[in-house]
Amino acid sequence: MSFFRKLCCGGAHNWSMTDRSGTTWRIFTLKELSTATNNFNYDNKLGEGGFGSVYWGQIWDGSQIAVKRLKVFTTTNEMAFAIEVEILGRVKHKNLLSLRGYCAEGQERLIVYDYMPNLSLLSHLHGQQSVEGLLNWKRRMNVAIGSAEGIEYLHHYATPHIIHRDIKASNVLLDSNFEAQVADFGFAKFIPDGVTHVTTRVKGTLGYLAPEYAMWGKVSESCDVYSFGILLLELISGKKPIEKIGPGRKRTIVEWAAPLVYQERLREMVDPKLEENFDEEELRKVVHVATLCAQNSPENRPTIREVVLLLKDDPNRKSTSDYDHQTDRVKLEAVKYNDELLEADDEDASHKQ
Ligand SMILES: Nc1ncnc2c1ncn2[C@@H]1O[C@H](COP(=O)(O)OP(=O)(O)OP(=O)(O)O)[C@@H](O)[C@H]1O
Ligand SMILES: [Mg+2]
Repeated sequence: MSFFRKLCCGGAHNWSMTDRSGTTWRIFTLKELSTATNNFNYDNKLGEGGFGSVYWGQIWDGSQIAVKRLKVFTTTNEMAFAIEVEILGRVKHKNLLSLRGYCAEGQERLIVYDYMPNLSLLSHLHGQQSVEGLLNWKRRMNVAIGSAEGIEYLHHYATPHIIHRDIKASNVLLDSNFEAQVADFGFAKFIPDGVTHVTTRVKGTLGYLAPEYAMWGKVSESCDVYSFGILLLELISGKKPIEKIGPGRKRTIVEWAAPLVYQERLREMVDPKLEENFDEEELRKVVHVATLCAQNSPENRPTIREVVLLLKDDPNRKSTSDYDHQTDRVKLEAVKYNDELLEADDEDASHKQ
């Protein structure tokens, strides 16, 4: 029986399996997850996303888990659940959050992951943990490289290739060593060989969305590269992808960064929380990469593989990348999302913690 059929048959079976990539996962019972999360207690809630709530829990062996509980069991959610479980069951990489198991009982659909003790980039950049100052420059650079490597695996090594489609700060989790673990493949679709993009409905968080995806629903690996560029700007500056700058006025991080990049005022881009503790050469490099990634035209963006090489400053990069000497030609172009999308983004934000 295939992985997918086992999933769709549902029911609580008491077995575990190891897939081709060596990932061990198992089916959890609803009772077990209920006990682990103190009956999905509000105090255990880590947050809420588009598909439901995530709860912290502890199971009988003492290990800590994060349980994503789908809020409404609609066809869409069932699909997303099946896709996510299928993908997570297959992929294994040091920078991708792997699946620990799932539960499918009655109308309940839950996905179980390892709990990431350092939570997400979102909480360190803008949330509760941002005051603690744990995300120093070195860790930020390491997270940039690690998350790029996770996405590189999805784009270039997973079979078939996977477009993430929802690269953002809450989907980059941090393990006990502050290593990046890219999470949430709920929006990802398999890309058959030879197909460069598919048209689909826009879903994600505005501000990270590539213009061709936000306006026309055109998806390709390059959309993830764009989102990654926005994530890099966020990582350097501690600014949100879209900020309210007055009554009824919003500004994208690209609109904010563009003049600073153009006028080479890079030091002013750095998160004040870092108190000037950063490496100037690395800053130059990361801004350069972010600028390449966040170009409006998808064909001008680098591949994520090139991004990894550039970020790692590989001595061989000159033979593999044309992007190293492009600084003068590339400038950040701000995307103007239409008002309808900006309003939709507000609605999206309202169901999050
Ligand atoms: N394994 C985990 N360990 C620790 N925190 C987690 C884990 N999984 C998710 N979270 C956190 O729980 C919160 C809710 O996650 P969820 O994925 O549901 O929403 P989201 O990432 O904000 O949006 P989206 O639905 O688009 O992914 C987020 O802040 C996320 O970082
Ligand atoms: Mg998420």
